[in-house]
Amino acid sequence: MSPEISFKDGFINKTLRTHSCGSLRRSDVGKKVVLMGWVQHRRDHGGVIFIDLRDRHGLTQIVFNPERNHANHAAAEDFRNEYVLYVEGEVETRPADALNPNLSTGEIEVRVDKVRLLNPSEPTPFPIDDSSNVTEEMRLTYRYLDFRMEKMNKALAARHRITHAVRNFLNAEGFLEIETPLLTKSTPEGARDYLVPSRVNPGSFYALPQSPQIMKQLLMVGGIDKYFQICRCFRDEDLRADRQPEFTQIDMEMSYVNQDEIFRVTEGVVAAMFKAGINKDIAFPFPRYTHKEVLDRYGIDKPDTRFGLELFTATEILSGSDFKIFNQTIEQGGIIKGLVYPGGVSFSRKELDDLTAFVGKYGAKGLAWFKFTGEGVQSPIAKFFSHASFDSLRTAGKIKEGDIAFFVCDKESVVNESLAALRNHLGHLGNLIPEGVFNLLWVVDFPLFKYNDEEKRLESEHHPFTAPLPDDLHLLETHPLKVRSSSYDLVLNGTEVASGSIRIHNFAFQQKIFQMLGLEDQEIEEKFGFFINALRYGAPPHGGIAPGLDRIVTIMLGLPSIRDVIAFPKTQKASCLMTQSPSSVSEKQLKDLRLRITK
Ligand code: AMO
Ligand code: AMP
Repeated sequence: MSPEISFKDGFINKTLRTHSCGSLRRSDVGKKVVLMGWVQHRRDHGGVIFIDLRDRHGLTQIVFNPERNHANHAAAEDFRNEYVLYVEGEVETRPADALNPNLSTGEIEVRVDKVRLLNPSEPTPFPIDDSSNVTEEMRLTYRYLDFRMEKMNKALAARHRITHAVRNFLNAEGFLEIETPLLTKSTPEGARDYLVPSRVNPGSFYALPQSPQIMKQLLMVGGIDKYFQICRCFRDEDLRADRQPEFTQIDMEMSYVNQDEIFRVTEGVVAAMFKAGINKDIAFPFPRYTHKEVLDRYGIDKPDTRFGLELFTATEILSGSDFKIFNQTIEQGGIIKGLVYPGGVSFSRKELDDLTAFVGKYGAKGLAWFKFTGEGVQSPIAKFFSHASFDSLRTAGKIKEGDIAFFVCDKESVVNESLAALRNHLGHLGNLIPEGVFNLLWVVDFPLFKYNDEEKRLESEHHPFTAPLPDDLHLLETHPLKVRSSSYDLVLNGTEVASGSIRIHNFAFQQKIFQMLGLEDQEIEEKFGFFINALRYGAPPHGGIAPGLDRIVTIMLGLPSIRDVIAFPKTQKASCLMTQSPSSVSEKQLKDLRLRITK
């Protein structure tokens, strides 16, 4: 058990800290200082006791010498890890053999004149030490202890600097920061809503915003001109390492702009974030790719361009052989694409079977491979193909001796998805992805619609407020799936980190798009009446974007999950281990809300 101390003993009186635990240097030697912090570590060196006193700024070695003050030394014998101390003392140079070049305060130590225990601590459920191997479950349950770790408090401090830089940048660009409601109406961003029942209006619900999309467009109608908000968004969807049920966007909207201007501002924001976060200068403008180009070359709309292994099409070269599977699939509209892994002839049969199983998860029915060796092409299916077709493959895929080429034959979506996943997988397996490199790129000209096979209707690829490209308007009635939109994504190292579009500002056209999406007039009125009505009153042309703050900070800091940059995140099951939420509520609360739980 830890000792009990009275509340009064731990009360901070007149004297405040003079320094943090990370700030004292050789130039402070001789100063009388007051420090407060946690016991990181106590060492008893034959009489003299050394304690590393910690706060989020660092560690300072404090020294209890029994010859200098017997009572203080005796007190220090009882101090344990995570006790909170008040220390008064004098800064001294460390003896030459005790200098610690790895510590910012490593040249000095503080000789204690006075010490006070402000609060004891029970043994913590895990050591407060970045090198200790703590499960994430424990870290999330005792998040307040996790914050004491350097890794965590560094991430939060970086996030603070980054949001601060965003505000400064956008302020200088003339943006107004405006808050929009959390208790609101559903916004269509493609996920399920989190709903909040209204007590005052029984049977009615607010939706937590999936984004402030509609509100920011209404701000443009209102002449706000340039808006931003570092806002929380709520989405009830399947969670992954880069998805949280509540997350933060840097939400922006601008009037009288085009895509170039939105890119310029966004690139400025992102560059300011990198500078503030990790002191890195990011080069811009970022390269732009069309949606078609990234699908052709990488099979995915968020390519990681830090490494090669680009895809190439081999439908013609590998069709018309004696290999029936390919011919049949192509007859049914399928295609063949492949990628070349340099030096891959050394893959074992087991490794190749594993890769085949890997692409199987993405729907590929097989993974054809050809090893290009000095003795010719090796593959279980090599016999079905001509020498001429291998020569063509060599040219098309820039294949050299020692390489392996992989191919998937299927409908286009399966080919692209499976090969894009294989490409990333091989990039990791082969250590082809350089660290500390940040590849930012724009993907533009997304399709306006996609087809929902289950519901047999068109769906917005981005959201229903996105304008089509004027050049494609003539296709809207006849070939809606061919219409490109004015939406764009920003991709960082293979993750989508921002998304936006030029919006529809014309009342009749917005109504038409809603109708094309299969909404009945009454439904449009119910869900969006307030919004499209606003478009009748001289809505200015406008557009915007929303970078995902959590994702950008995570990637910048090289962390594995966005949970590592969110103070109080949820688990994959959308629960908070610390507060044990979501949790049941009282009968009285349910009754007030006129809700009943059914089994
Ligand atoms: P979108 O839905 O693409 O666009 O979201 C924009 C960005 O928000 C981040 N993001 C997420 N981050 C963490 N967890 C999540 N569950 C999550 N979902 C999205 C991503 C994404 O790129 N209103 C539009 C923007 C606009 O058109 O201006 C919108 O919300 O980084
Ligand atoms: P099978 O005749 O099914 O044993 O397949 C022979 C080889 O062709 C195996 O290596 C399969 O992985 C590969 N294969 C089968 N179907 C496909 C496909 N649709 N795309 C690419 N490779 C395939």
